[in-house]
Amino acid sequence: MSAPRRFGVLGTGFWAETCHGAALAAHPGVELVGFAGRDPARAAQVAGRVGGRGFASAQELIEAVDAVTIALPPHVQAPLAARAARAGRHVLLEKPLALDLAAADEVVAAVREGGVASLVHTTYLFQPDVTDWLARVRALAAEHGPWEGALARWAGTIDAPGNPYGASAWRRERGGLWDTGPHALSVLLELLPPVERVSAGRGARDAVNVALEHAGGAGSALSLTLTAPAGAGGSFATVWGPGGRHDLPRFHGTPQEGFARAVDRLRESAAGGRPDRLDAAYARDAVAVLVAVEEHLARPVGERTTAVARPPAGGR
Ligand SMILES: NC(=O)c1ccc[n+]([C@@H]2O[C@H](COP(=O)([O-])OP(=O)(O)OC[C@H]3O[C@@H](n4cnc5c(N)ncnc54)[C@H](OP(=O)(O)O)[C@@H]3O)[C@@H](O)[C@H]2O)c1
Repeated sequence: MSAPRRFGVLGTGFWAETCHGAALAAHPGVELVGFAGRDPARAAQVAGRVGGRGFASAQELIEAVDAVTIALPPHVQAPLAARAARAGRHVLLEKPLALDLAAADEVVAAVREGGVASLVHTTYLFQPDVTDWLARVRALAAEHGPWEGALARWAGTIDAPGNPYGASAWRRERGGLWDTGPHALSVLLELLPPVERVSAGRGARDAVNVALEHAGGAGSALSLTLTAPAGAGGSFATVWGPGGRHDLPRFHGTPQEGFARAVDRLRESAAGGRPDRLDAAYARDAVAVLVAVEEHLARPVGERTTAVARPPAGGR
């Protein structure tokens, strides 16, 4: 199979235009065919600014390309990804793949049935500062023994003035668990085995604190929000074990550079006919962890927490 060349973007929002569209327009190996969203006029406007043309519908765009990239809310992404894959189009997906497991499983099935390549744009895993660090700490684990634990905080600030995601309905409804959780998981799962069990508690606003039990005994903790107060946003992660304790570095590349690398990886997977490790099935497994956390949080407080004993009546 040859590498896909004609790419179209499903989505007309901020990320579709400034990341997917801009990266595809600048990529020397592919053609940006255009954009489709729920409003054809907006698709034409975005295309006018970035490149390609606006399509009247997702279906029209799917028919005109070899591959689609999708920058839409996850519950909109999943059925469109499945449709594109069944039509034989390679799919470059955003995190999270979907907001429920049935929709995520459906994308995995469609990719398999369509015989197409798939890849999820896990931002951090396409940045050399991060991937170089991961390679170094993996080598330490190979020398000294597997990592035993990790701690990660991922905090967005969508209430900050000018934040482009302030009006994002799915983020408001589902919170940091679903928006920043996939980023934290993407890094930790490069170093720790798959997650087998979860428990979680709530914090201020949308904040969720998660405990993950990994296969083989490692444990990790995530603190997730997308409504951190001004000055309290940002992310960090630390991993530890017999090889010491190591902090995830900041990355200095742009999202567009990372996305261009994801385009290259999708093209390689398609040309080689081999699924990428970061394919739809990988993205589905991340959704499964988030669903499990949500299930835990949905339990009555008394069933998921143990109350701390109050002082005896009559005071201390
Ligand atoms: N990898 C990363 O670092 C990164 C960064 C940012 C975003 N993302 C991902 O990119 C995806 C899109 O993110 P976003 O911030 O652009 O999301 P968003 O702001 O919630 O929505 C994006 C656009 O989708 C369209 N839309 C909204 N609801 C829709 C609906 N029900 N049906 C059809 N279209 C709808 C809207 O465009 P119109 O009003 O023009 O129709 C909206 O501007 C998400 O999966 C997000 O996680 C990833």
